[in-house]
Amino acid sequence: MTNLKVHHIGYLVKKIQQAIGEFQHLGYQTVSGVTHDHYRNIHICFMEKDGYQIELVSPADTESVVSGLLKKYKNSPYHICYETPDFDADFTSLVQEGYTAIDVPTPAPALDGRRVVFLMNPFLGMIELLETAAP
Ligand code: NI
Repeated sequence: MTNLKVHHIGYLVKKIQQAIGEFQHLGYQTVSGVTHDHYRNIHICFMEKDGYQIELVSPADTESVVSGLLKKYKNSPYHICYETPDFDADFTSLVQEGYTAIDVPTPAPALDGRRVVFLMNPFLGMIELLETAAP
């Protein structure tokens, strides 16, 4: 699947404003405002340094999809997101190759409403698939 391009590294953080400040201190710059993703009940902010983009994700409340992950992993990177122009075909292939979809493709408000889906692989954990352009 050579058409996959790394888009960002997802980074779980407990407190997004404090995390933004700490990453700025390390030389990262914000490339978006803090967005509330109401589908997943999380706050998101994209930051960039040296061509690497990170996505800070924090729970908007205790019912958020990432609250459980944060308890388990604490503040830490937890997924790599791959962008593809062939979203539907690649999603189908990954599932056929043994990845398990852990949600259904859903628009991401922080990414212009482009669809994303999360998948688990027994050997490399969680990945995110992102479509290159909105349908
Ligand atoms: Ni992500």
